[in-house]
Amino acid sequence: MKPYADACDRNRGPILEVLRQHFADRHRVLEIGSGTGQHAVHFAAALPQLTWQTSECEPSLAGIRLWLDEAGLPNLPQPIALDVTGAWPNARFDAVFTANTLHIMGWSEVRALFAALPKVLTSDAVLAVYGPFNYDGRFTSPSNAAFDEWLKQRSARSGIRDFAAVDELARSIGLALVEDRAMPANNRTLVWRRGAA
Ligand SMILES: C[S@@+](CC[C@H](N)C(=O)[O-])C[C@H]1O[C@@H](n2cnc3c(N)ncnc32)[C@H](O)[C@@H]1O
Repeated sequence: MKPYADACDRNRGPILEVLRQHFADRHRVLEIGSGTGQHAVHFAAALPQLTWQTSECEPSLAGIRLWLDEAGLPNLPQPIALDVTGAWPNARFDAVFTANTLHIMGWSEVRALFAALPKVLTSDAVLAVYGPFNYDGRFTSPSNAAFDEWLKQRSARSGIRDFAAVDELARSIGLALVEDRAMPANNRTLVWRRGAA
C-alpha cells in the first residue's frame, strides 16, 4: 500500500503557489527528502515544464515508486537514493526543493546538505525550503514550541531551526534570499537564488 502523509494534502496547495512563481523558469528540480512522494506527484502534474527528481534515504524509495508508478507522469523519473551525509548525484539541477526536512535532520546533517549543494546547483539555481522556522531565537507560535518539544523527545538531534542560522549557511554557498513567505499553520517557504546579489 502507498505511504500517505495527510500534511501533504494540507500544505501542497500553498507550496504550489510559491513554486508557480519561483520555479516558473526552472527545468530540472532535485527534491531532497521526498518522503512519501505525494508532493512530487502534485507539483510535477501542475508544473509539467519541470523534470522533478525525487530522492530519499533508501528505506523510503519503494513507497515513492508506488506513487510515481501510479501517477505515470513523464516528468517524474524514478527516485534516487540520497542521504545528505552520503554520496550526491553527479548531476546539475537549476532548482532544489525540500519540505519538512531541516527540523528532522540533526544540525550536522543540515550543514552537510548545504555544504554539498554547490556540487549539484547550476550557477543561477533556486532553492526552496518549506517548514517551520524560528526567528530571533523564538518560536513563532505556541504550537511550534510544542512541536519542537515533541521532535526532541523523538530524537534529541531534531528541532525547529533558526531562520538566521539557515540563511547563514545559504549565504556561505552564494545563495541570496529572495523570499520568505508565510504559510498556513505557522510554516514558511524560504526561497534563495544563486547569483542574485
Ligand atoms: C517529516 S519527513 C518530510 C517528508 C516530505 N518532504 C514531506 O513534506 O512530507 C522528513 C524526511 O526527511 C528525510 N531525511 C531525514 N534525514 C535525512 C538525510 N540525512 N538525508 C536525506 N533525507 C533525510 C526522512 O527520510 C523523511 O522522509
